[in-house]
Amino acid sequence: MARLGVNIDHVATVREARKTVEPDPVAAAVLVELAGADGIVCHLREDRRHIKDRDLKLLRQVVKTHLNLEMAATEEMVNIALQVLPDMVTIVPEKRQELTTEGGLDVVTHGDYLQEVISNLRAHNIVVSLFVDPDIHQIKAAAKVGADFIELHTGEYANAEDENKMMEELEKLDTMAVAASKLGLAVSAGHGLNYQNVVPVAQLDKIEELNIGHSIISRAVLVGLDRAVKEMVALIR
Ligand code: PXP
Repeated sequence: MARLGVNIDHVATVREARKTVEPDPVAAAVLVELAGADGIVCHLREDRRHIKDRDLKLLRQVVKTHLNLEMAATEEMVNIALQVLPDMVTIVPEKRQELTTEGGLDVVTHGDYLQEVISNLRAHNIVVSLFVDPDIHQIKAAAKVGADFIELHTGEYANAEDENKMMEELEKLDTMAVAASKLGLAVSAGHGLNYQNVVPVAQLDKIEELNIGHSIISRAVLVGLDRAVKEMVALIR
């Protein structure tokens, strides 16, 4: 059975739309844990567009399950990770202009640098995951540079335009998860997973963990609206 890590970045996105103090992603993390999630994921971006340094520090104090910090492999982020000591770091590529992480890491090209970063983090007992496309060259490179986990990018699967393409991408995820596992890597997956497409991925044997953000926060807004409006109506009347 796959574990669920809930990415709470977009709670902070709503806060930053007004540059105010609510909704607080730290409060959201507590509720996410109480609801039964296995872990909290957040992405501290270079531009701090949603999660802030303050959030990460408080999350480290509050999260009781498992804290997975997504970050670019920059010197700044490595220093922050070594101070905060999340349970896991997931290294992702980061471009300033993107709306969300658009592709996997190029571990083949940046292997030497990543190896250094990984050994530095692991020396501080941080489990390291690399976010990669379901591509055998990247997976072999991830094993070679000493990662503990890979997170398979499920974007192509999630964005598939028809059933055939979806099945093709699902099979690729399965094959690559098996290959990674044979290389000694633990496997998670994420990006674009939602209430319609998650089940076939959750059923893949070698995928231990799913990291899901946008669809859960989106649903929370809708399922929470009824109560939120009723509470305001009660106050006004
Ligand atoms: N995994 C990684 C590495 C990501 O960068 C993201 C997006 O922040 C996710 C999972 C979650 O993706 P989504 O918000 O589409 O569920």
